[in-house]
Amino acid sequence: MEDALKKISWPVSTERLRLRRMNSADVDSLWRYRQLADVTQWITAGPATLEDFRSLFFAKVYPLKNLAVELDTGQGTVLIGTVMLDIVDGWGQSEVEQSAKGVEGNLGWSFDPAYGGKGYATEAVRAAIGLCFGPLGLRRVTAECFAANEPSWKLMERLGMRKEFHGRKDSLHRSGEWMDSMGYALLAEEWID
Ligand SMILES: CC(C)(COP(=O)(O)OP(=O)(O)OC[C@H]1O[C@@H](n2cnc3c(N)ncnc32)[C@H](O)[C@@H]1OP(=O)(O)O)[C@@H](O)C(=O)NCCC(=O)NCCS
Repeated sequence: MEDALKKISWPVSTERLRLRRMNSADVDSLWRYRQLADVTQWITAGPATLEDFRSLFFAKVYPLKNLAVELDTGQGTVLIGTVMLDIVDGWGQSEVEQSAKGVEGNLGWSFDPAYGGKGYATEAVRAAIGLCFGPLGLRRVTAECFAANEPSWKLMERLGMRKEFHGRKDSLHRSGEWMDSMGYALLAEEWID
């Protein structure tokens, strides 16, 4: 798999945070909060053990698509969250589909609740959008969530992302319930940094 994020000059600093590539040593730090029910409740995979999480981390090219978000607390640097930045294809008719390849960024996030409520996730995702429309030259950014995941859609609205769909009972939660989903997007020309 091509490493599309290597064209960015890492790390990337924001006002309070640092975004960097992930490495295998991050597994244990991530597990500290990725094992919490509040965190796994709405995300795609909720491995039950550190071993399962380690397999997910390595098997699913996780480090290639996810960025580590670090905060300097004054007593040291802490890994407080991850932002997924996956470069995906747009849709195009068959005669032009080649031109729709790799033109969109699909974003995701998960943060340690110990650092929630201070705007850190918003700041990190804002930086990821900036990378999509800046050095990566993408034309559109998308993200999806369960409709019941209010902190997530509030984050997208805080960033000025535009709601594009509300899917009725289209997403199967691991509880067994088919739940509503929501999708947000932003075009490069809509982005006001
Ligand atoms: C989604 C998630 C990252 C949101 O966390 P969050 O703490 O609400 O987000 P932020 O860190 O951006 O903080 C925003 C909050 O801090 C407040 N805040 C304080 N200072 C702020 C600042 N400088 N800038 C922005 N917001 C600030 C905001 O008002 C907001 O609070 P509110 O929701 O009560 O209005 C978090 O809930 C999470 O990781 N959940 C588990 C994983 C998950 O669901 N991932 C998404 C799957 S689709």
